[in-house]
Amino acid sequence: QAQNERESLLIALGFARDFFVKNLQTDEGKSIGLSYFKERGFTPAIIEKFDLGYALEGWDNLLNSAKKAGFQEDVLLKAGLILEKEGDPSRRYDRFRNRVIFTIHNISGKPIAFGARILTKDKNQPKYINSPETPVYHKSDVLYGMFQAKKAIREKDNCYLVEGYTDVISMHLSGIENVVASSGTSLTEGQIKLIKRFTDQVTVLYDGDAAGIKASLRGIDLLLEGGLTVKAVVFPDGEDPDSYSRKVGSQAFQNYLQENAKDFIGFKINLYKDEFQRDPIRKAEVIREVVQSIAKIPDPIIRSVYAKEASGFLDIEEGIVYAEVNKILLKNQ
Ligand code: CTP
Ligand code: MN
Ligand code: MN
Ligand code: MN
Ligand code: MN
Repeated sequence: QAQNERESLLIALGFARDFFVKNLQTDEGKSIGLSYFKERGFTPAIIEKFDLGYALEGWDNLLNSAKKAGFQEDVLLKAGLILEKEGDPSRRYDRFRNRVIFTIHNISGKPIAFGARILTKDKNQPKYINSPETPVYHKSDVLYGMFQAKKAIREKDNCYLVEGYTDVISMHLSGIENVVASSGTSLTEGQIKLIKRFTDQVTVLYDGDAAGIKASLRGIDLLLEGGLTVKAVVFPDGEDPDSYSRKVGSQAFQNYLQENAKDFIGFKINLYKDEFQRDPIRKAEVIREVVQSIAKIPDPIIRSVYAKEASGFLDIEEGIVYAEVNKILLKNQ
């Protein structure tokens, strides 16, 4: 029964994907959706690779054509494609309207959800509208772009982790295919397990703003706890991998990643180094920060490698680092 329901939701989501993709070739889709993507530098090949599409203006374009094709409203509702009108649930309408569409795939390439971006700078509406949780879409177990990235992640034995849909796509355009997005929410255990099916190494490339740096710090600790090797890159203020790669070009972007990828200790020290060079109290806080992260690493041998590195970088005795790490480990037992 449940299996049947999942099947029928996947078929409806496949129909919606085809619909959004075809809409991009209508007059409205070309003049609004396709021109938006072109402006962002997206090529026809990348549009096809990622099933990018367009949701037409109007309240019920998808609803009507899906019904005509024989889909029941209840299935469309459960798939997250339509909504019920408040106070009058018998009136139903399209969730995604007048937006460009990013298709979210499962690991075998089937559409399971959509993200839809607004085309104007209207601050009163959310920039992205996303599918809700459904029986086939558990957000916390999905990473955007994994279907397109998994082969490259295995080959490179590294996974770049970015915030947004467009970061994933722009990095593919820059020739980097081992990249997935957490889609602006904080990383989960399920997502980390998913990455571990393909590699044990992650490089975090979050946006170069306060929120992005905070999210990096949280993400790094979760990844360390998951037993992964973690690096991170900080982008100039206000830049994300999409904007920065387009600004400097593919080659310079790839060089930037090479030159600026730091392990978590280097990343943390670098964040605070201007402050702590002047302020010894601040330095003590940074040491505690780094020690906290080291204590999260499950493997004692790797823990000791990083403890040694931290003592060198921070110019404190190795014994002190070990003692602090052990204090935390004992407290957590
Ligand atoms: N996001 C979301 N809902 C929002 C804002 C963001 O779901 N209202 C998610 C999207 O997955 C988005 C990611 O968080 O891709 C990162 O957000 P942000 O950096 O604000 O957007 P960008 O991906 O940079 O999008 P763009 O370049 O189109 O502005
Ligand atoms: Mn492994
Ligand atoms: Mn952001
Ligand atoms: Mn961004
Ligand atoms: Mn962006």
